[in-house]
Amino acid sequence: MNDKLDLMIQERLSNLPTGLIKHIQTVETISVELATIHGLDIDKARLCAQAHDLFRSEKPTTLINMAQKLGIQINAVERELPILLHGPVAAVTLWKEGMKDPEIYQGIYYHSTACPGLMPVGKTVFLADKLDPRKIKRYPYLPSLLTLSKKSLDEGLMEFLTKQLAYHIEHDELVHPAFLAARNELLLNK
Ligand SMILES: [Fe+2]
Ligand SMILES: [Fe+2]
Repeated sequence: MNDKLDLMIQERLSNLPTGLIKHIQTVETISVELATIHGLDIDKARLCAQAHDLFRSEKPTTLINMAQKLGIQINAVERELPILLHGPVAAVTLWKEGMKDPEIYQGIYYHSTACPGLMPVGKTVFLADKLDPRKIKRYPYLPSLLTLSKKSLDEGLMEFLTKQLAYHIEHDELVHPAFLAARNELLLNK
């Protein structure tokens, strides 16, 4: 990865709220741990984790405006829940700035919803993002998810998507189409 891009990411990171920086550092640590266990490219897992939430603190209206300017197609679920656009906005912004690695791009883009065909680095960052111990209240099954993710990224992913799908249904919440498609693909490939 080029130094200029790395510098731009570091500069953006330094301007984020403290809590978010801590979360990103935790995700980076867990991503590197999972990538090491599963024999993946550590540098890619690190960069993908560092960049995944660069736009997480933007307001919903800002995210909609940025997505439109970047030419990102906004679906009905994203229009209702613009926070889901912070991954796509980060991925497309970095791509335009010269970050041309498709696996990192995809991992950043789909870190909130997952997607069918998600590559290993994306799976690692997706899971690491949920495995931040600060999220234990939201995901009480986090310890078993960590064990499972160390054993198999697909098993970890399936476990998370299934538990969250049940949660979304129980709470009458919208489900992003990419989330359902990712889970369907895992079921079909079982
Ligand atoms: Fe995020
Ligand atoms: Fe995150």
